[in-house]
Amino acid sequence: MAKHKVCKTGDLAEGEGNKFEINGQDIAVYCVEGTFWATADFCPHRGGSLGHGKLDGKTIICPNHGWQFDITTGECLNNVSGEVDTFTVSVEGDEVFVELP
Ligand code: FES
Repeated sequence: MAKHKVCKTGDLAEGEGNKFEINGQDIAVYCVEGTFWATADFCPHRGGSLGHGKLDGKTIICPNHGWQFDITTGECLNNVSGEVDTFTVSVEGDEVFVELP
């Protein structure tokens, strides 16, 4: 595992996500209730950007066709075969780090 700085805590407002690129890999990072979470940015349905989706609590809704994923587990709430990868996130000071394999 390698730890990568992805953004500052102030870059994401409460209840927002965004897409970031780390070493050519698109990662979605979210801020919910003051905690940061990360998943792959690629929706397994047809590749929508989950970082540009809408959060409903800890559920991210894909902006393309509405598939929903639990950002804490990657579980797809619409399709059992639609899971997304999740990544460990840590905060040091005002910087957010994501661990990638
Ligand atoms: S691309 Fe995400 S629901 Fe279709």
